[in-house]
Order: sequence, then C-alpha cells, then structure tokens
Amino acid sequence: MERFELDDGLKDEIRAGTLGEGFIKLVQSVRRNGKSFKIAVRPVEIGGVAKFQAEMTDDGRVQVKNFDADGMSAGLEEIIEQKGARDLHLMTAKGDLHVRVTKKGHVLVSRSAEMDREVSVKPHDRVKNLPLASFDSAPLLRVTGIADGEGKIRASMRGKYDQVNEFLKVVKETLGSFGVGLESDGVCAGHDSAKALSDSAKTLKDSNRPFTVVDCGCGKAYLTLALYFYLAQTIGFRNVRVVGVDRRDDVIDSAKKMARSLDVAEKVLFVKADLSSFSLKDVAGDDRADMVVSLHACDTATDEAMARGVEWKAKYILSAPCCQHELQKSLASLGKGGAGVAAANDFAGLLRQSILRERLCDILTDSFRAMILRILGFRTQVIEFVSSEATMRNVLIKAEWGVKPGQAGPVSEYLNLRDYWKVTPWLETRLGRLLERHLARFD
Ligand SMILES: C[S@@+](CC[C@H](N)C(=O)[O-])C[C@H]1O[C@@H](n2cnc3c(N)ncnc32)[C@H](O)[C@@H]1O
Repeated sequence: MERFELDDGLKDEIRAGTLGEGFIKLVQSVRRNGKSFKIAVRPVEIGGVAKFQAEMTDDGRVQVKNFDADGMSAGLEEIIEQKGARDLHLMTAKGDLHVRVTKKGHVLVSRSAEMDREVSVKPHDRVKNLPLASFDSAPLLRVTGIADGEGKIRASMRGKYDQVNEFLKVVKETLGSFGVGLESDGVCAGHDSAKALSDSAKTLKDSNRPFTVVDCGCGKAYLTLALYFYLAQTIGFRNVRVVGVDRRDDVIDSAKKMARSLDVAEKVLFVKADLSSFSLKDVAGDDRADMVVSLHACDTATDEAMARGVEWKAKYILSAPCCQHELQKSLASLGKGGAGVAAANDFAGLLRQSILRERLCDILTDSFRAMILRILGFRTQVIEFVSSEATMRNVLIKAEWGVKPGQAGPVSEYLNLRDYWKVTPWLETRLGRLLERHLARFD
C-alpha cells in the first residue's frame, strides 16, 4: 500500500456511504504547495432525476458540476485515490466519518456515534438560488428589457442576466468573508439573510449613513439597478445609494427614466460624466464611496474606475475588465531601441502571434491592476465570475481594503514584472504619487 493510500475497508465504507442510501454530503479538502482544493458532493434532484452535485473550489475558483450515478462513481474513485495530506468528511443518515491523512501519510479515522438522521434531497431549483430571484425582480427585469412583457428572460438578454446574477453573487461573497467562499449547501448560499456578512459589512449594513456604491461605466444600468434592489431588499442595507456614471447621454437619460419608473430615483442616481472628471461630492455630498464596481468598462475605464475607487477610499472594488489595448502598443514595440530585450527574446514566438499577444496583454494588465491594488492596501483576488463560454471577458478583480500598504513583497513582485516587460501600466501612471511613494522606496 502506498503512503497516503486508504485501506480497502475504508475505501469501501466511503463508497457505500456515498453511493448508497442515506448519503448526505462528502467533503474532501486538500492543501498542496500553499494552495487549497476542496470538493463537496451532495445528492440533488434535477427535473425529478436523482443526481450528485459537486462543488469544486480550486484555490478560490469555484465550479459546480452535476453527475449521474456512473459519473459520480468514477469521480468518487478519484476522490478516494487522491494523494497527499487531506481531510475527508462523509455525512450519512447513520453518522459521520472523518478521515485525516497527515503530511507524513498517517491515516487518522474517527466516527461519530450511530445516528438516525433524516435525509431530504431537495429539488435543485437553480432559479430560486439566483440573486435576481431573491427579491421581486419582475419590474426591474421588465423595465430594463431583460425580460419580456410576460416576465420571460429574453434569449438575447440571457448573457446579461447571467452576468448580473453572478456579479451580485460576488458582491455578497465579498461582503461576507473576503477570499473565502460562503459555505453553502447549494450552488450559492441562500440570499434571504445577512448571516454570512462579515462584522465590518454588518456595521455598514446597519448604519444610517448611506452605503454608497458607484457603478463606473454603467451603460444601460442593468447592474446598477439590480445592485440597489439586491443590497436594499435581499441583503437588507438600511440605507443604500447607488450612483451610475457613464459618459453617454442616451444611456444616462434612459437609466434615469428607468429609476423613476421603478420609484428608486432618490436612491439610484445617474450622472452623465467622464469617470476621470466625475465629482462624487456633487451627487453624494462627500467624496467617499464604500464600493466601486465596473462591469466591462472599456479599456482604461477599468483602470479609471479602480483609481477612483482608491481616491474615494472605497472598502471594496469589484471590477470585471473589458477589452484592453493600452499595453498592446508597448508590447508590439518591445525590444526595439533596447527596451525589453530579455522579454522580447524570451517570448518572441508568443509575441509574433497577435491573438496570443493580445491575451498575454490582458493577463499582464490584470496582473498589474491586482498587484497595484495590493500595494495600495487591498486584499485582492482574481476570479472568473461567469464561464468562459458565456463571455471571454469573464475575469473579475475583487479587492477589499485592509492590509498594510507598501509592503516589500508586493512592491518587489510588481517591480520585477513591470521591469521585466519594460512597460508602465496605465494605472501606475494614473495613480501618480499615491503609488509612486511606495515604489520609490524599493525602485
Ligand atoms: C461595454 S459597456 C458596459 C456597460 C455596463 N456596465 C454593462 O455591463 O452592461 C461600457 C460602458 O462604459 C462607458 N465608458 C467607457 N469609458 C468611460 C469613461 N471614461 N467615463 C464614463 N463612461 C465610460 C461606455 O460609455 C459604455 O456605456
């Protein structure tokens, strides 16, 4: 028997408990090279058919898949044969089995006393768990045109509907416990309570002071309006105010009309302005935002949203970037005139291909953005908030204020990457002295 391997009796016990009657949940957590991987499986009923639902969290990235019995049986073998240190918890109607495999390969087993637990497999109703189904969203969906007159989601708006739902889930997770997915028994945690909110978010939620959210590059205001209802009605913020900013007259005019027809014009404000010159003070009375969001704000508008978030001392910045052009120009000329020779040589084969160069630029730009926010005191995480089949623009940078700014590690990581590529990210230029004083100490 190999080190880390479970003995046959234990393997059979896990198989019988998971695939037999009375199965409630199986969770296995593995930690390797500083990264964590967790899989949680539970029985569900989808369209009247019994299935297994697996929620896999790979270093913060969550994926949910449903399996039939055969698929589950194959997947279970992989769970059982997983190498390395791990914790496994099997819950069945009869009791709990805990297996801990230590770093040295010792297998420690404990079992609860025998129980007679009730097992109820609830029909898995995805719609019920969606943020946009957690409040009476029918008027919002109709007014924004996401739904038709009969309340059905229009086929052409399905993508936007999904994006808004997923963005709202990230908002809730961010308010809950930054960097840690909310423990849930379903695809997403219930949206009917604020029990998972972190202490600081709870304070903000119960405060009389308005919780101010700015949606930068709000466009047709799908997210802006949904954010208001979700925060006010589902999460239960006592006083929330959402400001949508866009430089286009037409979208701002129609967003204002929508806010009026939904009777929220006093709480959801729309301003036609360029993000760089927009004055929050003029609309909100002061220059403080609690949360700054942007969903596919074009090119450097994402950087501008982040910079404004920093200037407005936002606690949370959530940004799903869009197209990215700025770095491409620099990389296209890399190596010419002596700049970036090392990178130009090392990556010559990749840079020659325009599609790959474009993707590399996206990745580098988002890395720089996340690193800059980290240097400025934000805990940051880059996630995929919708699937890549839904949109190629599926990356979201989450940032929560709260770590010591200007720490040596993040600064040197940033400088190393920046200097290797011999580029100056737009966000660095934009933030000027705010960032420079941290970089200057190590440059
Ligand atoms: C791709 S749309 C996304 C709209 C919306 N967030 C959504 O996801 O439906 C980008 C929006 O950003 C706005 N925008 C881009 N740059 C801007 C800037 N510098 N200031 C204000 N708005 C900007 C555009 O006018 C456009 O409405």
